[in-house]
Amino acid sequence: MIDDIIKIAKEAGSVIKDGFGKNFNIEFKTNETNLVTDIDKASEKLITDFVKKNYPSHKILAEESGESGSNSDYLWVIDPLDGTTNFAHGIPIFSVSIGLQKNGQTIAGVVYDVMRDVLYSAELGGGAFANGKKLHVSKNDKLGRSVLVTGFPYNIAENPDNALEKFAALTKVARAVRRLGSAAIDLCYVASGVFDGFWEVYLHPWDVCAGKLIVEEAGGLVTDFEGKRIDIFSQKFLASNSAVHNSIINILEKN
Ligand code: IPD
Ligand code: CA
Ligand code: CA
Repeated sequence: MIDDIIKIAKEAGSVIKDGFGKNFNIEFKTNETNLVTDIDKASEKLITDFVKKNYPSHKILAEESGESGSNSDYLWVIDPLDGTTNFAHGIPIFSVSIGLQKNGQTIAGVVYDVMRDVLYSAELGGGAFANGKKLHVSKNDKLGRSVLVTGFPYNIAENPDNALEKFAALTKVARAVRRLGSAAIDLCYVASGVFDGFWEVYLHPWDVCAGKLIVEEAGGLVTDFEGKRIDIFSQKFLASNSAVHNSIINILEKN
């Protein structure tokens, strides 16, 4: 099935690339910071139509259309365009993220970094790859030498979860902290050893389903902010090379 996921992620990527920088309609979801474009919807329709046609018995959880399909052991978890704000404002950092679960366990994940044309993929127990090249997390074990990445929820103005305090505290102790705007790409960069760690509060299953498996298959660790194992429905999300995991947790716990 991984070949099918790769094929449809790339097709969705072409739709997004064709739309980038053109005129597209933008709507607000919960507020003026939370956007959805025609292109998000077109990408999602392409992917969900593909699943419905080729795997009619499977269930789907997709960001823009929610749950569809009948009960099944298989669940497709789809973010048709991760990084919509970047896309809408002409910043070329966004992706398509598709995870496939069987009985609640992610067995395959694909993230397509559209503008860099890099396809990240992983199958459970089979390693993680970028355009076919095997991925490994970084080996660095010093927080002071770490480059980290994070993101902020759309409800940050009302959110009680100290996202800015955590950001400030880690910025003071790490070599650098970045904010790219696509959680799926953030996770793939952890898997690639570019970033040593990534954390964020209030993520959604479609942001992380594929990327979590890609990090784990590249040798990384994904937990909540207390170091507990999590599933894709967890809202507190820490992914790292595992060597700096506890040092990041120490800072997150205090802020
Ligand atoms: C968002 C991006 C962003 C993260 C937000 C997500 P979207 O997804 O992944 O990096 O900080 O929390 O909601 O809305 O562009 O699909
Ligand atoms: Ca997303
Ligand atoms: Ca999205």
